[in-house]
Amino acid sequence: MKFFKIRRKDMAYILGVDIGTSGTKTVLFSEDGTPVASALYDYPLYTPCNGYAKQDPADWWNACVNSIRDVVAKSGVPADEIKGVGLSGQMHGLVMLDKDNKVIRNSIIWCDQRTGKEVVEITEKVGHDRLIAITANPAITGFTAAKIMWVKNNEPENYEKCRHILLPKDYIRFMLTGEFATEVSDASGMQLLDIPGRCWSDEVLTKLGIDKSLLAKVYESPEITGTVTKAVAQATGLKEGTPVVGGAGDNAAAAVGTGVVEDGKAFTTIGSSGVVFAHTSDISIDPKGRVHTFCCAVPGCWHVMGVTQSAGLSLKWFRDNFAWSEMETAASMGVDPYYLMDKEADSVPIGANRLLYMPYLNGERTPHLDPNVRGAFVGLSTMHKKKDMLRAVMEGVSYSLRDCVEVMREMNISIDDMMACGGGGTSPLWRQMLADLYACNVKTTANKEGPALGVALLAAVGAGIYSSVPEACKAVIKPEKIQEPIAENSAKYEKVYALYKKLYPAMKANFDELASLDV
Ligand code: XUL
Repeated sequence: MKFFKIRRKDMAYILGVDIGTSGTKTVLFSEDGTPVASALYDYPLYTPCNGYAKQDPADWWNACVNSIRDVVAKSGVPADEIKGVGLSGQMHGLVMLDKDNKVIRNSIIWCDQRTGKEVVEITEKVGHDRLIAITANPAITGFTAAKIMWVKNNEPENYEKCRHILLPKDYIRFMLTGEFATEVSDASGMQLLDIPGRCWSDEVLTKLGIDKSLLAKVYESPEITGTVTKAVAQATGLKEGTPVVGGAGDNAAAAVGTGVVEDGKAFTTIGSSGVVFAHTSDISIDPKGRVHTFCCAVPGCWHVMGVTQSAGLSLKWFRDNFAWSEMETAASMGVDPYYLMDKEADSVPIGANRLLYMPYLNGERTPHLDPNVRGAFVGLSTMHKKKDMLRAVMEGVSYSLRDCVEVMREMNISIDDMMACGGGGTSPLWRQMLADLYACNVKTTANKEGPALGVALLAAVGAGIYSSVPEACKAVIKPEKIQEPIAENSAKYEKVYALYKKLYPAMKANFDELASLDV
């Protein structure tokens, strides 16, 4: 639980709740974007076998209630001064409710890769070109449509019972307000939305045999979708009737929270996944489907987004399995283990002493769209130390993010201004790698709350505090540190990146074989 500043009496307050993969973070802001109090509650991610990833929606809800209650109680802000709530969350996860609105099974979440067969089925049923024209993306294992088809095919008894299909943050919305609602940015990642038209696609739903009545009502992100119920008010300390706006998927929310709401602006986030996100006021679709085109949180606008499945997750995996001594030292020093890991990686030269890392622990989206590919260290030698591997992990993730920028440049999307966010974005070393590899300035914002701030600003727009999303961003978001590319570094990274690009095509067949290896 953190406190930031004494509250001001003449201010309105807005609450942002971000239902992430590792935990739920709730932050109360004053209307000028200053964080007043925040709380974070973690929960587990279950990976019962290779390629599976599930979470229990009850964990999200408990974390949500606990964090809102803590923040409201400790902030000292009277509940009637909190003018709105915005929800952000991990995208694509499937929550199914039965006729009594009870959760039927654990949520199959965004990084689950079990749906290879369903992707083929969806492509056959809808047609590759129609899918790109309507949903702006080819069929993708991580998207919700494939998960729904998987339950239909593998757990027909659960599908039979299902009366409502919701995304993670929209399940929380239902629990807060009793409303079945979603909004365009998160709904875009279900692969059931007509992305140019910003509404459910009857054609896709009919071809996949999914009943439209299972889906929630679609809003624009700053619109009010419902209000806090009496029971929730009692449990959290919020006022009954407080408006809850549409909010946004975590990436569209981070865009608002970093001011990426106009053409030319982009951000890179290194959270569990890694994302390169560029705002576009006109719809722009990659015919090869290597980057996603989704509706964004600014009404009437879109964004293009490349995704590295395991970005921060790669470093977390490395920390949890190999960096025990760093964790111990960090605990005794009272610092974050990532801080020590960063220092170690920084002591290794560019290229990690000729060691490369492929960050494909959970398959990859941009640019390969391959659920079978897996991670690899390439070039290990007896001379390598843990710190070389650490540096290689950070570099490998950065090469994968550069792959995303390459596709956008091919699509003539202008990127003049790159913000960095997410846990990895707080590392100066990682930001410098990105600046050197993108050959453009990489900036941070003074406020590090990204998605939570983004959806709180959407709530401020919904509550009438600001008249539009860009106006809210102009008033609140202030760029802070700027890292410029260093030509000498860029030249070195270019050489390693050229080699990195050759690894996936050379090893693809081996990964396919590995995926079906029966031992
Ligand atoms: C985006 C995506 C991830 C998740 C989890 O398409 O899958 O960014 O939203 O953060």
